[in-house]
Amino acid sequence: MSEGRYILLLSLHGLIRGTAVELGRDEDTGGQVTYVLDLARALGEQDDVGRVDLVTRQVIDPALAEDYAREEERLSDKVRIVRLPFGPQRYLRKEALWPHLDHAVDRVLHYLRQQQRLPDVIHGHYADAGYVGVQLSHLTGLPLIHTGHSLGRCKRRRLLDAGRKAGRIDHLYQFPRRFAAEEEVLREADLIVTSTRQEISRQWGLYDNFPEGAFVVIPPGTDTSRFSPPGVGWQGRSVRNAVAPFLRDPGKPMILAIARPDARKNLIRLVEAYAASPALRARANLAIVCGNRDDISALPEEQKEIYTQLLLALDRHDLYGSMALPKHHEQSEVADYYRAAARSGGVFVNVALTEPFGLTLIEAAASGLPIIATHDGGPQDIVANCRNGLLVDPLNTAEISAALLDALTDRRRWQGWVRSGRAGVRRHYTWQAHVDKYLRQTDILLRRHRKRLRREQVAFTQGVDLPLVASLLVSDIDNTLLGDAASLRELMAWLEAHRQMGFAVATGRSLETTLKILRQWKVRRPDILISSVGSEIHYGRTLKQDLGWASHIRYRWRRAEVQQLLDHLPGLCLQPAENQREFKLSYYLESDHAPDLREIRAELSRHRLYARLIHSQRIFLDVLPVRASKGQAIRYLAYRWGLPLERILVAGDSGNDREMLVGDTLAVVVGNHSEEIADLAGHERVYMARAHHAAGILEGVRHYGFPGFASAVAAPTAAGLKACVP
Ligand code: GLC
Ligand code: MG
Repeated sequence: MSEGRYILLLSLHGLIRGTAVELGRDEDTGGQVTYVLDLARALGEQDDVGRVDLVTRQVIDPALAEDYAREEERLSDKVRIVRLPFGPQRYLRKEALWPHLDHAVDRVLHYLRQQQRLPDVIHGHYADAGYVGVQLSHLTGLPLIHTGHSLGRCKRRRLLDAGRKAGRIDHLYQFPRRFAAEEEVLREADLIVTSTRQEISRQWGLYDNFPEGAFVVIPPGTDTSRFSPPGVGWQGRSVRNAVAPFLRDPGKPMILAIARPDARKNLIRLVEAYAASPALRARANLAIVCGNRDDISALPEEQKEIYTQLLLALDRHDLYGSMALPKHHEQSEVADYYRAAARSGGVFVNVALTEPFGLTLIEAAASGLPIIATHDGGPQDIVANCRNGLLVDPLNTAEISAALLDALTDRRRWQGWVRSGRAGVRRHYTWQAHVDKYLRQTDILLRRHRKRLRREQVAFTQGVDLPLVASLLVSDIDNTLLGDAASLRELMAWLEAHRQMGFAVATGRSLETTLKILRQWKVRRPDILISSVGSEIHYGRTLKQDLGWASHIRYRWRRAEVQQLLDHLPGLCLQPAENQREFKLSYYLESDHAPDLREIRAELSRHRLYARLIHSQRIFLDVLPVRASKGQAIRYLAYRWGLPLERILVAGDSGNDREMLVGDTLAVVVGNHSEEIADLAGHERVYMARAHHAAGILEGVRHYGFPGFASAVAAPTAAGLKACVP
């Protein structure tokens, strides 16, 4: 394997493969898929990049090509697509992936564990991978880059504006989960990549954690290899033939628009603007390349409407002989349209009502064709970067006319636009330009990261003395392990008889009270004690603390400041001193008076403080470093220990157990659980026991078919795993 940076890209939904990408096959296989493939390839071409893994979901679905089932697909010697299974095998639309993302975290972790080295950076794409990326970055300590691609808050607004019902769309598109993931990644990512400046203000600006965001604008590269100015011998015969029937004087400069027949593209107003100016009509032709049509009356309603309006406008203003509206065009002819317009000394025009990016403007610029475009996000950046035309208000017909005429009048300036447009595309809109900037930014992150590592001396790699066991039981203490003496004795006897099964506790208690209560109940000293809600790990034999974990979770933890802030909030009352630890700040919460968790989170964000809030049994509120929780502690141990998560049986009863119950671990929720985790019923690999306390754990042991329980009824999801359980 070559050295150099190792970049892990996560893009979880849609159909990704290296060749014959099925763009548009479904809603989730579109721009983002192209983007991540292009990015992966472009990164792979850089000398100082050693390896790029593009991780996506493995899909085994008879309705789809087998390509999506392949675990690995090489795109080049350095770049590969890695497909990891999570959730059901069949294809799922992205909104249906949310319940499976904790498994995705665990699968990626497992994959990383098998590689010779950890990546240098994790880069998530879209909210789902953002969620996974945040967890992975907490666990591994690796820097996190994120690209939103599209944001939930904008989509929800659009749907509400279109008259959709909030309740229905929230359910259908899982907005609450998506927003939470987007808020979290906004806070946690070391860098957020956007395509335009406007994406930062108008889109990310809608989020609570916006002030936390570390943004950089890096427009995606566009494949401009197809687009170049007309060369000396260029003829463009097919385009000439296509517009010839419409134009009296085809030699005049061509005002060219290429757009889908879509109301947002504002094409009718373009015709009005052209028609309104006799000088413009005298000087130039107008050509609108807009979809393909045979029989307008047979088209979908919106397209029918647009073509009808266009033809009516043509007729109304008597634009016969000066306006072309070709019926058909091939994708391959598009480049020649730009060339034809460039050769004629014309301009490209895009006066869409809104234009977040504006790909056609970049294609035009690459073809040596100046542009007139809407004063909005994408075009603003393009004109600023390329200096190749004018911006207009898309609602102002007179302004559009004037700008078109103006652009066609000054030939010297026109020539300048042609030159700087082409140079601007090379400098800002190629994938090479993209990865140059991307790698400059990642280097800054990596330098910062290395400094931090030296300070923290974190080591996911550092060895510790862990018991040699083949599987592990991790149990919560209060109301799970303890509560019923008879079944506890039975469980302990089973553990005694099966020493290959390690024993750990994970509790909200401190180490001292943990040891005390275990003694009282005559429970043997566990191999590992995860205490204070996951913020401390001690090894049972020596009671040595895992300092690697301590320094790992210290990240961004400013305990005193967090406490100062929370102490002032109503309904929050500090727990007694013995419950307070270096990495755990605990309150009693009076739910009637206290702000809800989202508000508390927002309050912390406003003060640029980072913490994980864990609410349990209604009254407890634990505030921990972002990287700490029982679940994260278990993953950290599993990773260092090399023990697959599916060999870890976790048992719990309340909110502070949630994180360890979801994901790849085998989970059992005891019958006497609190209401706050009742929703885990039906989760993959979560078994809801009927029996209470230790009897519930034993029921889980039996359910998953651990040794000594021959009559085991294995859960369907665990069936395949039984083989791993000794
Ligand atoms: C234990 C701890 C307490 C914590 C609670 C919930 O009761 O003593 O500090 O808030 O668990 O995690
Ligand atoms: Mg408990």
